[in-house]
Amino acid sequence: MSLPLRLTDGAVAIAGRPVVRGVSLTVRPGEFVALMGANGSGKSTLVRALTGLLPLTGGSLELYGEPIASFADWRRIGFVPQRIGAASGVPASVWEVVASGRLTHRRLLRPLSRADRTAIDEALEVVGLADRARDGVSQLSGGQQQRTLIARALAGEPELFFLDEPTAGVDLPNQVALAASLGRLKARGATVVLVAHELGPLGSLVDRSVVMRDGRIAYDGSPLADHAVHSPGFGETHAHHHHPDPARRDHLPAVSSPFEERWD
Ligand SMILES: Nc1ncnc2c1ncn2[C@@H]1O[C@H](COP(=O)(O)OP(=O)(O)O)[C@@H](O)[C@H]1O
Ligand SMILES: [Mg+2]
Repeated sequence: MSLPLRLTDGAVAIAGRPVVRGVSLTVRPGEFVALMGANGSGKSTLVRALTGLLPLTGGSLELYGEPIASFADWRRIGFVPQRIGAASGVPASVWEVVASGRLTHRRLLRPLSRADRTAIDEALEVVGLADRARDGVSQLSGGQQQRTLIARALAGEPELFFLDEPTAGVDLPNQVALAASLGRLKARGATVVLVAHELGPLGSLVDRSVVMRDGRIAYDGSPLADHAVHSPGFGETHAHHHHPDPARRDHLPAVSSPFEERWD
């Protein structure tokens, strides 16, 4: 059985600046991996590279045993990006956004098949938004919008699912609802790479923690609690890979990129 993901010595540079360096990461089928670390440590950049949205500037990446350059089976991969832009213009309905997740399954200009409609309905059900399908996404709370994006990815029935900070700015009840959705996804056997600054209610789903610091992996092992990841001195007592720099929390402002998701 081929591994969902195998990155060897991966590097990503943005505008000539190395943002991810020397990252080797293997994800096994059915694993639920939490990718953690301070803001600016390179988590989103790594995930963009893993989903083919940013080119690697070094190292090699395989998805399901296939080098990224020749990987074509993108319907096996789902991705929920970090942020959604403010709603503007004509709002898409929840159903339309979720239906867009079936695009890779459809033949060009053909109407939705019964299988498409079933997948869309199931995805809305899993995230608890079936009763909001006809509403405009702009009418939803931030947490419900995030779950709409998750449903869109789910509708594509991916085997390997990347979520970047799905709980950022989401209130606790919606975080709990999201944890239930991801729990169902995990029970179906999906492989999940979850980027999170803090895990909160998602913590109970995690099989393995990977912590990034300054573009490198500072820890890869059994699940860590939020407070352990953010404690001063992290990486000195727990890390498998020792790093000469003292642990630090940096809070760099987020930078928008052309890949940032927008509703309009
Ligand atoms: N599009 C971009 N242009 C310039 N710098 C970027 C861009 N995206 C990310 N960076 C920089 O790369 C570093 C890592 O960012 P990012 O991957 O977003 O970290 P994280 O997701 O862990 O918060 C940061 O220093 C950030 O400012
Ligand atoms: Mg990020």
